[in-house]
Amino acid sequence: MSGILNSSIGRKFAMALSALFLMVFLLQHFAINLLSVFSADAFNDVSHFMGTFWVIQYVMQPVLIFGVIFHFVMGFVLEIKNKKARTISYAKNNGAANSSWMSRNMIYSGLAILAFICLHFYDFWLPEINTKYIQGDMTGLLANGEYRYFEELQHKFVDIWRVALYCIAFVFLALHLLHGFNSAFQSAGANNKYTKGLKGFGKAYAIIIPLGFIFIALFHHFNH
Ligand code: HEM
Repeated sequence: MSGILNSSIGRKFAMALSALFLMVFLLQHFAINLLSVFSADAFNDVSHFMGTFWVIQYVMQPVLIFGVIFHFVMGFVLEIKNKKARTISYAKNNGAANSSWMSRNMIYSGLAILAFICLHFYDFWLPEINTKYIQGDMTGLLANGEYRYFEELQHKFVDIWRVALYCIAFVFLALHLLHGFNSAFQSAGANNKYTKGLKGFGKAYAIIIPLGFIFIALFHHFNH
């Protein structure tokens, strides 16, 4: 692994792989949370399955947390290295003209998403880890015998400040994905006859998923 990360191509490739993995996670995370808009029971059942099935808990979750941390750390490493390289070339050929605002500001949209992830882990993931692995309650049940997941999710979206922060973060998520989606496929070497179609799919993904998350947050705020 360290060999790959010694070259800029290797670092970009590793960054692209972590990005592709996180975009697959985001799609499943969106699908599960969208369920909560249509059926509290279905959301509770799927959340309990995901929250107790050993492959998800002990294999996929550690891989996901590693993927999130790796993506952010590598993002900073690449930004620092690019910044050093860029200062010279930009002056010469007016780099601003050749790149989009989104691509020049990936570090800032990334930082906004990192701030969101910190709040989000405080809101959802840490309480989940506390209930299941510190208090040892894997039942997922409230005192009244009902599953707790839907009620906990709705409760989080009562406060308008949290809803506002989440929605602002989802706008930055869209800006990050608008450049990141296609750049990840490019760095992973996907340059073929499907690239044009992939570009269109990438734009749709970058707009629909964050908009969908905004809808979920607003839906629970106005329907609790
Ligand atoms: C309205 C939008 C969202 C809702 C309602 C939501 C809900 C949740 C819930 C309930 C959990 C705890 C799951 C568990 O640990 O069992 C969770 C965890 C997590 N969320 Fe979200 N989420 C939203 C948006 C996002 C976004 C946009 C991202 C990424 C940019 C994200 C990344 C994560 C990660 C990495 C975890 C921890 C891993 C996991 O346990 O699944 N979430 N979220």
